[in-house]
Amino acid sequence: MRFQPDRNYLSNDNIQTPRPLARAVVEALRPSGRVLEPCAGGGAFLSVLPADSLWCELREGRDFLVWEGQVDWIVTNPPWSKIRAFLRKAFAVADHVAFLMTINHAWTRARLRDAREAGFGIRQILLFNTPKTFPQSGFQLGVVVYTRGYRGPIELRELPGDW
Ligand SMILES: C[S@@+](CC[C@H](N)C(=O)[O-])C[C@H]1O[C@@H](n2cnc3c(N)ncnc32)[C@H](O)[C@@H]1O
Repeated sequence: MRFQPDRNYLSNDNIQTPRPLARAVVEALRPSGRVLEPCAGGGAFLSVLPADSLWCELREGRDFLVWEGQVDWIVTNPPWSKIRAFLRKAFAVADHVAFLMTINHAWTRARLRDAREAGFGIRQILLFNTPKTFPQSGFQLGVVVYTRGYRGPIELRELPGDW
């Protein structure tokens, strides 16, 4: 039997954030200064970030992993298969990095070491219900906020709502 690729398969790398969730995240974080959406996709975060925010998107020919510049904030739902590369790049170009992801991925030894070596600490985690359009796994989703130079406790905050 020949292998047939499943053409209906939607990679976790292309799951777009519901706009109401993106809005709730941005209202909670209030990013300011220079802001970058490093993988804009359909523009969920970009549509609620400050109007002059910068953006990348591989499908538009703007690869974040080779992007050059410095910003105050990065806010995104990254391609989940590339979280480590995205985080390391984000630590190199931003002071505050907010990634929407399954929060257990923040606690791998490699991820904790990457943050420590880049001089970042986790300052806040926003917890929210899994959107209906996302894979329904048992893992808790959140926005993990890393801040350069931060060494204090982690604030856990719930974003109420269904998305
Ligand atoms: C999970 S989707 C999320 C899109 C958007 N950030 C959102 O919150 O709705 C991830 C996006 O990352 C893009 N992407 C993957 N690799 C990239 C790269 N190296 N540079 C820029 N964008 C990339 C994909 O094309 C996809 O649109």
